[in-house]
Amino acid sequence: MFDVENIKDFLRNHLSEKRFTHSVNVADECRKLARTYGEDEDRAYFAGLVHDVCKELPAPELKQMAIDSDLSMTVAETETKALWHAVAGAGFVRDSLMVGDEDIINAVRFHTIGRANMSRLEEIVYIGDLISADRSYKDVKKFRKLAYQDMDRVMLEALIFSIESVTDKKGMIPEYTLEAYNQYAARETRRVQERK
Ligand SMILES: [Fe+2]
Ligand SMILES: [Fe+2]
Repeated sequence: MFDVENIKDFLRNHLSEKRFTHSVNVADECRKLARTYGEDEDRAYFAGLVHDVCKELPAPELKQMAIDSDLSMTVAETETKALWHAVAGAGFVRDSLMVGDEDIINAVRFHTIGRANMSRLEEIVYIGDLISADRSYKDVKKFRKLAYQDMDRVMLEALIFSIESVTDKKGMIPEYTLEAYNQYAARETRRVQERK
């Protein structure tokens, strides 16, 4: 269904070795998560592979691509360079790689910020990116374990981790991220109340 070898060649030629390895690691993780959560493994692998396809382009080019994609951006996104590659990447996957699968495009679009009502594939790419084999931050083991036990809980913890990392640097939080956090937080509150 997906021409994985062609895409891998393209990524090998357009990304640094480190970023290429990260992309393959994320794809591997997405495949495993898809297996755990009953999603299409090849589709998840492909989405993981291309999630950072534009990550290493120069900032002005990324910004222009993000604008040209016509995918709407919030002010927080427009003001934050680190977020442009997700929007530019989604446009690139749609228009240059000719991927018509809306869910894959959205998985790339929201892999850095999340959003409310994420599809399972979007969650898989968001978490796959956070726990891939090349990640080595302090809590990665905790996230790796939780990712295969409880998707709602790991999404909640991952969003808290992301929001804290951004506010530590006095960065802006996109509304999408807050809406995602609120949704998973509400689910957790409901679960706690049901247990009482
Ligand atoms: Fe990324
Ligand atoms: Fe990534």
